[in-house]
Amino acid sequence: MLVAGNWKMHKGPAEARAFCDAFTPPAGVDVVVCPPYVSLAAALASGLTVYAQSVHWAREGAYTGEVSAPMLLELGVTGSIVGHSERRQYFGETDDSVARRTAAALEAGLGVIACVGESEEERESGRTEFVLVLQVESVRDAVGAHERLVVAYEPVWAIGTGRTATAEQAQEAHAFIKSLLDRPVLYGGSVKPENAAELLAQPDVDGALVGGASLEPSSFTAICEAAAAAAA
Ligand code: 13P
Repeated sequence: MLVAGNWKMHKGPAEARAFCDAFTPPAGVDVVVCPPYVSLAAALASGLTVYAQSVHWAREGAYTGEVSAPMLLELGVTGSIVGHSERRQYFGETDDSVARRTAAALEAGLGVIACVGESEEERESGRTEFVLVLQVESVRDAVGAHERLVVAYEPVWAIGTGRTATAEQAQEAHAFIKSLLDRPVLYGGSVKPENAAELLAQPDVDGALVGGASLEPSSFTAICEAAAAAAA
């Protein structure tokens, strides 16, 4: 079981330090925090496992605003989220750029949490599986079932909305994703202490990618404990 906290654009270095001082990962579960770039060093100083929120495909070059895998590794960062729906929605990330970022990160030695998931409109028009095939196969065709690759299923309609996928919807999507690419699949989208145990009890839910509820040590600890219990 892996639980990753995606802080998104929250917590500068001082707040990151305060979180890490108040948070001890429970035993029996792999825990990762994903701070903004400027707070990676502060989180690393606490000894937690730290992932970035995105990573570029080139080692260096004229790519203003981007950060490369070797730069992250030099800092002590061990992985990165790639292809989060907010990157796809607001920053022009495509299946192609997600695949390139994923391949470069794995090649450099980072772990990758590659995010996939359908929008509300895609689900309502019956295109969930079609969208998942496109997203998952572009990553699979680039890197295969790489041992440091994890997929996160994050239905866009469940992110930050308080509308969680039902445990059955998550299980169905996870099983479908695994039929395309045989790697662990995390669930993301309004995971809270109240719903974590039921989601994590599903046979194909291998952990969680948590946004809002990862910002407070108490709620993040409760979700990590639910994962440890589900793994036991
Ligand atoms: P919320 O948990 O805030 O819905 O965010 C989920 C997410 O996008 C994690 O990457």
